[in-house]
Amino acid sequence: MTHSEHPTQLEARAGGPLSGKARVPGDKSISHRALILGALAVGETRISGLLEGEDVLNTAKSMRALGAKVERSGDFAWKVNGTGVAGFAQPQGPLDFGNSGTGCRLVMGAVAGCPITAVFDGDASLRSRPMRRILDPLELMGAKTGETREGGRLPLTLHGARDPVPITYKTPVASAQIKSAVLLAGLAAPGVTTVIEQEASRDHTELMLKHFGADLVSTREGAHGRKIALTGQPELHGAKVLVPADPSSAAFPLVAALIVEGSEIALLDVMTNPLRTGLFKTLREMGAFIEEGETRGDAGEPMAQLRVRASKLRGVEVPPERAPSMIDEYLVLAVAAAFAEGTTIMRGLKELRVKESDRLKATADMLRVNGVKVEISGDDLLVEGRGHVPGGGLVKTHMDHRIAMSALVMGLASDKPVKVDDTAFIATSFPDFIPMMRALGAEFF
Ligand code: S3P
Repeated sequence: MTHSEHPTQLEARAGGPLSGKARVPGDKSISHRALILGALAVGETRISGLLEGEDVLNTAKSMRALGAKVERSGDFAWKVNGTGVAGFAQPQGPLDFGNSGTGCRLVMGAVAGCPITAVFDGDASLRSRPMRRILDPLELMGAKTGETREGGRLPLTLHGARDPVPITYKTPVASAQIKSAVLLAGLAAPGVTTVIEQEASRDHTELMLKHFGADLVSTREGAHGRKIALTGQPELHGAKVLVPADPSSAAFPLVAALIVEGSEIALLDVMTNPLRTGLFKTLREMGAFIEEGETRGDAGEPMAQLRVRASKLRGVEVPPERAPSMIDEYLVLAVAAAFAEGTTIMRGLKELRVKESDRLKATADMLRVNGVKVEISGDDLLVEGRGHVPGGGLVKTHMDHRIAMSALVMGLASDKPVKVDDTAFIATSFPDFIPMMRALGAEFF
């Protein structure tokens, strides 16, 4: 789909309080992983609550192209019959991951351990993102890349290893995508593949690998890191996966309810894995009322109902070591910070520059065009909160779903409406965002 051919502008304005209950779609990270591990397992995997957004649907298509049987069996319910570890078949055409860095990079890892050749491609946003960080460890394991553009950018041809070798790899940045690519390639290698990270990134791959029967040990490393050791060539068996609601998507109605006066909403089944909840912690430090109901869990992933009430927020300093646990949430945190009293300083945001867009710059632009004072200082972002936001700006989406949703949330409480140039990319992660927010009382035109 070429979104930019049909740009869909939308305007958000301040209205009455938000109220009601919502279950945001299934977690994107877990949805990708359930399809990929299902495709590498023997027997049937049944997934419920899968995110049926474009990013995940592209991963489903690529799993089919690599020989797995992937079927939709009902609303958000999918069945996968896999090929077994290292059993992927030679795909007939290029694998197109659209907008999704996660789908693309995780599948690169899975393909790297199979004796096949695959061409990886994506949209203009994905083609602009660096892939070297993934190719470096995969080449150490025996995969080879054809000629690539600068930084290993897509499109690129990956030749999987006939005899993959296990490695010990220290990730250069806290990235679950790099870690997961190495572990997925390591499934096919004889012996133990080890990933060491200085700052722990989301651990969904580790939890799900265990759930599918892999032998994996994760231990603490230093103050904030982890060491993960995976024994290769396991027999993965099909499993049941219940995908909890995505905390990164819940972040949008949550922040909206905090900033729109008089609001009170409940968000159901939100995943509360501590490696994903840095935003909730930060908002609570800012004075937000976010109450967690009883926690239940599935396949090691806890989830809870969140009750959120409009709150007076104050500026805080967010330490750099918290970044991996809220890396996708800084845009919407910056919106909350603009409505707070006092300055919020977010430190160590270098990785934001290589997301679906340069999110550090995009966040600053989004706020500035709506009258908020903001500064980028090295890798830090400073937002001056004045308790209200003038609004009135047109925000450029840059093919980035989270910019569109953050800007629309801002418009729900700003003095003048906020316009977004193209909302089509919201479908990559949160296809029902607009109707769901409207059902809570949001005014979008
Ligand atoms: C993801 C990891 C993060 C995150 C992305 C999803 C994952 O990327 O930004 O949206 O599912 O592994 P990095 O690992 O590159 O930080």
